[in-house]
Amino acid sequence: MALAGIILAAGKGTRMKSDLPKVLHLCNGLPMAELVGRALRAAGVTDCVVIVGHGSDQVKATLGDKHYRYAEQAEQLGTGHAALMANEALKDFDGDVIVTAGDTPLLSGEALERLVSAHRDAHAICTVASFYASDPKGYGRVKRNGDGKPTHIVEEKDATPDEKTILEVNSGVYCFDCQALFAILPTLSNQNSQGEYYLPDALAAFARNGKTTHAVVLEEELFMGVNDRWQLAEASRLLNQSILRAHAESGVTIVDPLSTWISPEVEIGQDTVIEPMTSITGTTRIGPRCHIGPSTKIDDSQIGEGAKVYMSYVHGATMHDGSRCGPYAHLRPNAVIGAGAKVGNFVEIKNATLGDGASANHLTYIGDADVGKDSNIGAGTITCNYDGYRKSRTKIGNNSFVGSNSTLVAPVTIGDGAFVAAGSVITHDVGDDALAIGRARQEEKEGWAKRWRDKNS
Ligand code: UD1
Ligand code: MG
Repeated sequence: MALAGIILAAGKGTRMKSDLPKVLHLCNGLPMAELVGRALRAAGVTDCVVIVGHGSDQVKATLGDKHYRYAEQAEQLGTGHAALMANEALKDFDGDVIVTAGDTPLLSGEALERLVSAHRDAHAICTVASFYASDPKGYGRVKRNGDGKPTHIVEEKDATPDEKTILEVNSGVYCFDCQALFAILPTLSNQNSQGEYYLPDALAAFARNGKTTHAVVLEEELFMGVNDRWQLAEASRLLNQSILRAHAESGVTIVDPLSTWISPEVEIGQDTVIEPMTSITGTTRIGPRCHIGPSTKIDDSQIGEGAKVYMSYVHGATMHDGSRCGPYAHLRPNAVIGAGAKVGNFVEIKNATLGDGASANHLTYIGDADVGKDSNIGAGTITCNYDGYRKSRTKIGNNSFVGSNSTLVAPVTIGDGAFVAAGSVITHDVGDDALAIGRARQEEKEGWAKRWRDKNS
């Protein structure tokens, strides 16, 4: 049976005190609404409509149109009104729909699957995911009749003192028969303390009409809502801990879970060790038997088997098997480090390839360059890739040796097996197996130092 999703994300999120719409704030590396969208997809949702209002352009631009369609809610008249905005987009949809807020980043696909199964097993028209709240304040309370059937959800602001003692609360996540939902929403009233159209009132309306309503009790942690930045930090921490734990369970050593951050999409191979104060984000994939950290940031990068990265910043880069980097190296986008190659301290590499077995061990900038296999780039070598107007490439062959403190002025090519003398400024191509020296010749003035001292003392 088909499953659709509606994410309510039109609210402003005033308490975030931010120009960014609340649902776009990153929770451990991904926008909250994207985490919710992923949970929906993991539960089998194939068509997801996001209700946008505040900052709608930003929300659409960030979430994109691959996985989402959008419906505008110009005025925030309540959650029931918000859900109704999806009517047009889903008017031909025949199946169930999960409706959820966009600010509950800890939702999991597995929990949503349980909601949908419960809904279908009960042959319900409306199923609410509820939980027993450690502190129910602020939540809608779930009222059940003598048969245990939920008949009503009463908002905190509308609740009697008696109703406020109910601990089973509305998580804000529901499964509905999609067309039945759109049929009932226009019948709801906003005669309540907040003057809003309440989505939970749909459950009461179904129950009044004699339809089957259901509530499934799930774990409180799944539904943590984020309303301010402190709650965002807490949600990020919880999500991160569960990710670290999953990596640990699949054979990755996390030396210090308190100072290690790994975002949801990252993959890490078995027997890799992650040292403290390390953050691994984006679409990074790390192979088995690697050593990463301490104090390292890796974003959107590919790290091959057995590679080592110490105290470095690696983004948009590829390191092949057995290569190493750092301490204090900076691999920028399109840096490709060959198998077994070495990048040492204070080396920056951008849009450049370092061939297999090559090394650039100290104090070097390699930008817009191709360095061949087993070549050695001496300390202090700089590729001058930019003339103030355009970028040019430097090509260095296999088995070549670039002496320390060389300046390679691009565009320039250094052949296979060539040798550049230390301190050279290279402005012309160097042939295979040649020696290039581009510096002033050394002079020696015999006895000069002694004469200088004698004169001055
Ligand atoms: C809602 C439920 C409450 C439940 C709680 C769980 C209602 C009336 N109450 O309360 O029973 O216990 O969630 O967290 O639904 N939104 C819109 N447009 C609107 C109003 C809201 O898109 O017009 C969005 C918000 O951006 C937010 C979500 O809907 O993402 C929930 O709205 P919010 O006002 O936070 O509802 P709660 O007061 O939390
Ligand atoms: Mg809320």
